[in-house]
Amino acid sequence: MSAAPVVVLVGPMGVGKSTVGQLLAERLGVGYRDTDDDIVVAEDRSIAEIFVDAGEPVFRAIEKRAVRRALVGHDGVLALGGGAVLDADTRALLAGQRVVYLSMDVEEAVRRTGLNAARPLLAVNPRKQWRELMEARRHLYEEVATVVVATDGRTPEEVVQAALDAL
Ligand code: S3P
Repeated sequence: MSAAPVVVLVGPMGVGKSTVGQLLAERLGVGYRDTDDDIVVAEDRSIAEIFVDAGEPVFRAIEKRAVRRALVGHDGVLALGGGAVLDADTRALLAGQRVVYLSMDVEEAVRRTGLNAARPLLAVNPRKQWRELMEARRHLYEEVATVVVATDGRTPEEVVQAALDAL
């Protein structure tokens, strides 16, 4: 039997998709799922290891399949990895879903994630990487979003409330 997520969360890494997603799921009384977690379990290695061992294109192919599976197999809150929207087929699959884009500005991003070595895309020169990442992706997040919730200066609880108000 197929299911569909109640809410899909998109947005850059470090924006708080997991924290907000779990709180939102609690408030809605539904389950929470994260495609990054699905990938780690299915591959039995970390996301960073997949990037290093196999490279980003292989990770993106794995991610695309994981998102497709989760979109038909989960009926709660679903958080996607920050780069999932890079894939046009994934963006097409998100049409018709309730998609919340959690946004943050570059300085907030640097502050929150700057030195996190577990995130392979930010290993060197975080501020420059963030600026480029946001420029390349912002319009893709906006394209799939039904709701945009700014997270700058807000606690996870406030973000959840703003999302609930907007949905
Ligand atoms: C990525 C975001 C990460 C993870 C991978 C690539 C990206 O997910 O999928 O490191 O391209 O933005 P989170 O957004 O959950 O950190």
